[in-house]
Amino acid sequence: MSDSRAIGIFDSGLGGLTVAKEIIKVLPKEDIIYFGDTGRVPYGTKGADTIKRYALEDEKFLLSKDVKLIVAACGTVSSVAFEESKNLPVPFIEVISHSVKSAVKATFNKKIGILATSATIKSGAHKKQILSFLPDAEVYEVSGTLLVPLVEEGYTSKDNPLVKNAVENYVSVFKENNVDTVILGCTHFPILTEAFKEALGENVTLINMGVSASNAVKDTLARLNLLNKQGGNHKFFVSDKGTTFKNTASVLLGEEIDDSSVETVDITAL
Ligand code: DGL
Repeated sequence: MSDSRAIGIFDSGLGGLTVAKEIIKVLPKEDIIYFGDTGRVPYGTKGADTIKRYALEDEKFLLSKDVKLIVAACGTVSSVAFEESKNLPVPFIEVISHSVKSAVKATFNKKIGILATSATIKSGAHKKQILSFLPDAEVYEVSGTLLVPLVEEGYTSKDNPLVKNAVENYVSVFKENNVDTVILGCTHFPILTEAFKEALGENVTLINMGVSASNAVKDTLARLNLLNKQGGNHKFFVSDKGTTFKNTASVLLGEEIDDSSVETVDITAL
């Protein structure tokens, strides 16, 4: 049996494409419908009520496309709007809990850093879950809000002075406290992996939430008999194409996105 409905993935903007990339790697035969709320990004500096409302609108849009599973490829939505999202009529995968399990497995000295948006840090979601597995862990939380617009603007090279400065600044607390594992708690951040490696050194394990979540997506589809054996089409919707969409999105996804597969939608009109 094969279920040809697409997997729906959404984020506040383009960062969720780093999650889509990992899902495509483990599930190349699945159709993907991605929604990036590029007209309203960032979410991570907004209040909880706004983030919850945006998340529900994004999910409603994906449901209107008859998706079989929804992935919140956004740390902010996963941490702030989890309660509102978990009762959707299709399975819902968030990115926090899987990344926490990976970090708990990876750490040797139980000193873990979280770099995420202010809304995610304020929610304390990663920290609470880490402490439930490792009550004596030391968790250092840093809000790295400025990295989101840098990535959306296509500033992703480790040699870009703005990227370098911002990354070095944000990770200094992790270095001072000798953390051995850092969760990149915002899906915009894996594209800056080289910059993080340079700032933190090769011995610190970086947890990419997309990698952890992609395995959960695969397991869920397999368990519920929802796998597709003959798809592989990828379709992208955004609330604003802006000026840099195509180039930045292709870099984040790791594959060329052509104009015909991108559509602009007004999801508030649904
Ligand atoms: N990519 C998102 C996250 O994982 C949000 C970035 C933002 O919109 O502030 O948190």
